[in-house]
Amino acid sequence: MDYPERFANLPEYAFPRLRALLDSHAPGGEAVAFTIGEPRHPMPAFVGEVLAQSLAEFGKYPANDGTPELLAAISAWLKRRFHVEVAENRIMALNGTREGLFNAAVALSPETKRSKKPVVLIPNPFYQVYAVAAVEVGAEPVFVPATEETGFLPDYASLPAEVLDRATIAYLCSPANPQGAVAPRDYLAQLLHLAEKHDFRVFADECYSELWREAPPPGALEVAAAEGIDPERVAVFHSLSKRSNLPGLRSGFVASGVENIRHIRRLRAYAGAPLPLPIQRVSERVWADEAHVVENRALYAEKYADAAEIFAGVNSFRLPDGGFFLWLPVPDGEEAALKLWRETGVRVLPGAYLAREVNGENPGKGYIRVALVAPREETQRGLIRLRDCLYT
Ligand SMILES: Cc1ncc(COP(=O)(O)O)c(C=O)c1O
Repeated sequence: MDYPERFANLPEYAFPRLRALLDSHAPGGEAVAFTIGEPRHPMPAFVGEVLAQSLAEFGKYPANDGTPELLAAISAWLKRRFHVEVAENRIMALNGTREGLFNAAVALSPETKRSKKPVVLIPNPFYQVYAVAAVEVGAEPVFVPATEETGFLPDYASLPAEVLDRATIAYLCSPANPQGAVAPRDYLAQLLHLAEKHDFRVFADECYSELWREAPPPGALEVAAAEGIDPERVAVFHSLSKRSNLPGLRSGFVASGVENIRHIRRLRAYAGAPLPLPIQRVSERVWADEAHVVENRALYAEKYADAAEIFAGVNSFRLPDGGFFLWLPVPDGEEAALKLWRETGVRVLPGAYLAREVNGENPGKGYIRVALVAPREETQRGLIRLRDCLYT
């Protein structure tokens, strides 16, 4: 039997590649996993109680778009956090942002643009679902370096007009996985004006927006509102996975203009997987609570401070502006990951596995990604071993 051609050239996902690189070697010490970005701080204490109260609702088909109460809680959060009025008909509940980043592209990216094959713009390195979404919608993925020279954000404005004119979607991740860069207001405003000029949509993946170090990152919707830009130009994606340490709940949302959301909702009425009602009830409560988010940030702040102290003598070290990853320069990411595992048992991800090679260059090659998700002491121990192995 045949399989779809369009997915045939997808590279192996990062984690099987990592296992192939490391697993035939014994760890050189107690294993410490800095690889997976799975939050491990406590989830809000009330989750179990709310879930128990709504168990009977597993017996019902859930509201496809999100219950009115959930959408209202999200709208209220957007208002508190980003000072924007986003009515409930501009929001759709998601099973986490990953599927939403894919399915929104399916719902919104046209087959052709100006009679040509469309382009989807993707920062490089990037969260991998963007690339498979581009392939799914029949677009040419264009990987745009997000390196130290560009402030770890993609310089979309530098692309040829011919490419920008074919763009249907530009993905942006801020705070960025893996680099931790936060897109400033000016950057977002310029990108949105570029989108107006060349008629594409900005998909802003803001799932790390609550894990910031010094100041809350601006959101693309609020910048669009401030700049008087049509909300249909932008879709923002948020999640409870990182904000609230609930990666297994599978709960997030997309917010955009009324028309975009209408299109997304229509597709999902046919083929979507709505969130079970008890999950929607829990989510409603979690979006309404900020206390646990403040505590969560404080736990990351301790680990950032530890990292800054541990790497104090290392010139190339920089703390991220947001998110929970360190993006550390090394001569070669794969060699560094292998050496670190064999000599110390610390497991990190080679940056090349999160990026694509373009014109013979992989912008992740000279990096490793270190997820600061483990408890504080374990993180400290791991970082000290990492520094001693790779930076002394
Ligand atoms: C940049 C980025 N976007 C989206 C996601 C998806 O998160 P979720 O589907 O749990 O909301 C992740 C998860 O690691 C991520 O790092």
